[in-house]
Amino acid sequence: MLGLGTIARGIGEVRRDLSAVHARDPAARGVASAEIVTSWPGVQALLAHRVAHGLHGMGVPFVPRSLSMVSRALTGIEIHPAACIGHGFFIDHGSGVVIGETARIGDDVTLYQGVTLGGTGFATGKRHPTLEDNVTVGAGAKLLGAITVGHGAKIGANTVVIHDVPPNTTVVGNPGHPVRVDGRRPEGPDTDWVHLPDPIADAINALSARIGELERDVAALSGQERAPGDGRVLRPVQGPSPAGG
Ligand SMILES: CC(C)(COP(=O)(O)OP(=O)(O)OC[C@H]1O[C@@H](n2cnc3c(N)ncnc32)[C@H](O)[C@@H]1OP(=O)(O)O)[C@@H](O)C(=O)NCCC(=O)NCCS
Repeated sequence: MLGLGTIARGIGEVRRDLSAVHARDPAARGVASAEIVTSWPGVQALLAHRVAHGLHGMGVPFVPRSLSMVSRALTGIEIHPAACIGHGFFIDHGSGVVIGETARIGDDVTLYQGVTLGGTGFATGKRHPTLEDNVTVGAGAKLLGAITVGHGAKIGANTVVIHDVPPNTTVVGNPGHPVRVDGRRPEGPDTDWVHLPDPIADAINALSARIGELERDVAALSGQERAPGDGRVLRPVQGPSPAGG
């Protein structure tokens, strides 16, 4: 049942969520807390989730999902009532955010619009990401599967992450790859993580080379002297190492 302790804890959580907005959203500087509650969709979705999650934990049927659905309709942010979210969570702008059932989010995490913390298929059990404390996830990033993003990690806008991310690492691109570890470029031998093998580009380059050969054969057989167009290499298979740059 709702006791005074629960209410006090709830008020404390709301205070910390609101101070996260003041600290991390430059647009919120000087804006009163009441205005933030009424105008910031990320805050509204989080408050609705805190209630839905509490009711879900008490085993209340129907209401938690309905709350989550109404919140989604109003804010464009879908958070499963079972998802565990720590203190000081902030979703900036909000629209298009999806947080799956078994996602776990630590303290002081920031997400931007269009972020998905999703599963990769029809697996059951733990199938959504775990984000440790102080993680930031840029707009449009997709984090898929039961991966762990270490504390203080940054995920770049539009990055696709399907593997664990070490703490204090910046990951960008698709597939997501580290470009900073503890604020420095990855160093040392065999750490060319930026120029990852690209099997699709390799296959297209191989096809392009075969078409070039066929064009040459056809030109030779038909007595033409037409120079076949060279297939353009899509990207170098092995780029310069970023180590020590
Ligand atoms: C990933 C991010 C956090 C990196 O910030 P940072 O720690 O200052 O790192 P840098 O800007 O030095 O970038 C590191 C490298 O990643 C590259 N990079 C940065 N963001 C990238 C992205 N989203 N996609 C691809 N590459 C990116 C940079 O070009 C740089 O490459 P280099 O090492 O070859 O020079 C930031 O660029 C980002 O994407 N933030 C999300 C912001 C957002 O979503 N805003 C929405 C507001 S509405």
